[in-house]
Amino acid sequence: MIAKPLLKAAASWIAIAAFAAACATTPTQQAATAPAATPEAAQAFVDNAERELMARSEYEGRVAWVYSTNINYDTEWLLQRADAEGTQTRVRIASEAARYQGLNLSPETQRKLNMLRLGLTLPAPQREGAADELSQITTRLASIYSTGRIDYQGRQVTLDELETLMGTERNPARLQEMWTEWHDVATPMHDDYARMVEIANEGARDLGYENVAQMWLSKYDMPADDMEQEVERLWGQMQPFYEQLHCFVRNRLSANYGEAVQSRTGPIRADLLGNMWAQDWTALMPIVRPRGSAQTYDTTQLLTRAGYTPVTMTEAAERFYTSLGMEELPDTFWERSLLTRPRDRDVVCHASAWNVDNVEDLRVKQCIQINAEHFQTIHHELGHNFYQRAYNQQPFLFRDGAHDGFHEAIGDFIALNITPEYLVEIGLLRRNQVPSAAADTNLLLEQALGKISFLPFALAMDQWRWQVFDGRITPDQYNTAWWDLRERYQGIRPPVERSAAGFDPGAKYHIANNVPYLRYFLSYVLQFQFYEAACQQAGWEGPLHRCTVYGNREVGERFNRMLEMGSSQPWPDALEAFTGTRQMDGGSMVRYFQPLMTYMEEQNRGQDCGWD
Ligand code: ASP
Ligand code: SER
Ligand code: ZN
Repeated sequence: MIAKPLLKAAASWIAIAAFAAACATTPTQQAATAPAATPEAAQAFVDNAERELMARSEYEGRVAWVYSTNINYDTEWLLQRADAEGTQTRVRIASEAARYQGLNLSPETQRKLNMLRLGLTLPAPQREGAADELSQITTRLASIYSTGRIDYQGRQVTLDELETLMGTERNPARLQEMWTEWHDVATPMHDDYARMVEIANEGARDLGYENVAQMWLSKYDMPADDMEQEVERLWGQMQPFYEQLHCFVRNRLSANYGEAVQSRTGPIRADLLGNMWAQDWTALMPIVRPRGSAQTYDTTQLLTRAGYTPVTMTEAAERFYTSLGMEELPDTFWERSLLTRPRDRDVVCHASAWNVDNVEDLRVKQCIQINAEHFQTIHHELGHNFYQRAYNQQPFLFRDGAHDGFHEAIGDFIALNITPEYLVEIGLLRRNQVPSAAADTNLLLEQALGKISFLPFALAMDQWRWQVFDGRITPDQYNTAWWDLRERYQGIRPPVERSAAGFDPGAKYHIANNVPYLRYFLSYVLQFQFYEAACQQAGWEGPLHRCTVYGNREVGERFNRMLEMGSSQPWPDALEAFTGTRQMDGGSMVRYFQPLMTYMEEQNRGQDCGWD
């Protein structure tokens, strides 16, 4: 995740002083004089807004950082307050921006105006007290999630430990216990969430949108309806793969646990998939690995045996980026990042990457554990940091991803380059341990368990929220609609009947913390496009999944052309700068996994696939 100022402003005298020094007119004066809507006035408005937001942003980032790395009564107070004031500021700017629609403006100014209109994830209405109520709710939801613990086997266990246990525990009763207890942590969020939706929708209508869902879908350089169609098209490309994977995995789970635990037909029990949210099934590899197939290696074991630490894992990830020609991370990254869970205080352990001053105060916050998943995640987070620094020469409003899916795809694209050959190159694997071509099915299966299984999860996440925000799902239907969608897209079911009054969606970070999720779906498609393009540029001719562009400066240079654009141009321009195409397309992912698809279709022959 990229840390966006969750927090949007602050009435700190420091920020105000900085702001007053930076501009001639204060926003209040400007609003009071309300100039006629001319192109010149629009330009002045955009310039002022950009300066105001930039001056506030660093303060906001520091408040958010202090909260996220030390959750207590006072930091909650600070966060809540800064967030409320930030919402007010951005709502004021967004509604003023609407005044300048339809003028003949430069593309740059028009683009900035659109961004200012859409600059909120959760808008509030302008009436007294609304922004404050909204931020009290969102802060409460965030803290319930991040401070949540369960009683398990006689001790208090945090989510990061539970996440690892969900991947290693194979006793169905214990899995069910952990799963159920964690999902119950979110039950108290239910009413707050419903009230939050009401307030934010009112705010969206004030800004001229039908609801919050429409705002979220309007951030992709095309009308919201077209974007929804795009998503359907991309999912259509990958859906047959998912159905085969689902069928294959269900069969193996049934063989492993017995029919009574997992039937050979119907949905899969969600707690058996090796992940709290059934979004990444990589941990199932020991169970689903084809019998008698060629040996691969276990990255977690390699890291552990080599004595890796959170810091050396981060350094290894950094080296991939510098090998492409990027500059090393600044010293302050190492001084200020949080790379392990502190023992003595609550923190937001969900991984994120930050650029606190929007220039080069780069940081990662991740409770790193020494395993393969965290090795991937640290590559993911550094992708955000290197992107942030690459576009820091852009005007402030363009210091962002081409769209949010690009931001999430950068580091994952890099992590796709962690091939056996690459592990040899960095000394983690011995050359005689490199799996032969006979192990390709295994290697692809492991990737598919992480990448293909994720797609319908990501869709279910935001289908649920879009329908909540547009009113198709009402608060009394929150939990049942959640499980309907999870069954429809993912073909999974909860291990036990869930209460209709519960709030299982809130047991996932991005729902409790209002981070839109479509970005991850898009990033899983885009990362394979980036990868295939990079490998073509490198002249790679073998099977796609064996390619690594480690050390390739030419690829790095072309990559950087996309990164340094930030969000200054519509995203197809950025995509074209690196890959030569202007469309998001699942074709690269299809080609990458094709040999596995052929294998799974053979294995599944005669099976009753699907789950209806
Ligand atoms: N980048 C991940 C996500 O965006 C962070 C993680 O995997 O923990 O939420
Ligand atoms: N990082 C995102 C998550 O944790 C997507 O993988 O859900
Ligand atoms: Zn991310």
